[in-house]
Amino acid sequence: MITATGRHIDPEDPVWMLNQYRAAEVHGAGAIMRMARLADTARLRSDLSRHLRDEAVHAWLWTRAIEDFGGEVVEVAQPYQARLSAHFGIPRTLTDMLALTLVSEQRGLSEYELHVGQEDLPQAVRRPLRAIIRDEAWHVSYIQEALLERAREDRRVHDIIERAQEADVRAVAELEAEAATA
Ligand SMILES: [Fe+2]
Ligand SMILES: [Fe+2]
Repeated sequence: MITATGRHIDPEDPVWMLNQYRAAEVHGAGAIMRMARLADTARLRSDLSRHLRDEAVHAWLWTRAIEDFGGEVVEVAQPYQARLSAHFGIPRTLTDMLALTLVSEQRGLSEYELHVGQEDLPQAVRRPLRAIIRDEAWHVSYIQEALLERAREDRRVHDIIERAQEADVRAVAELEAEAATA
């Protein structure tokens, strides 16, 4: 998650932002891989496999874009993910992981949507961004469905989703406050 200060992509040098994107995708792939071990239905196993493929492809698309712009792939800190887990606590169940994935996918999608609307965005960024946004929209929707299905069996699932949403709001508020005083 990129705070207000980083919302405009420098069209001459998008490498910094592309490295943020890439790192988020790699992190996402890792989280999906860990969660896949706990999947308890054939549907979820299948969806998580496709999801894992998507995040790995996204990481590669951004890697290639970084190199096309003459940049270097670097590891970057991920303050949003760190704060999100700090506020939520250690995920202990599949439902915890799904809820955390839902909020971070929604957050990632809204950032991508914000950026894709930037008028002076280079085509070499906009093209992959458009394709990635389609995948991200599917991630949000199938995870939402999986959670709703679980909620039909267990009402407490709604509380877990709410807790993840609160953790997300707090994480973002902290990052924005920090960026404003920086
Ligand atoms: Fe992705
Ligand atoms: Fe995603």
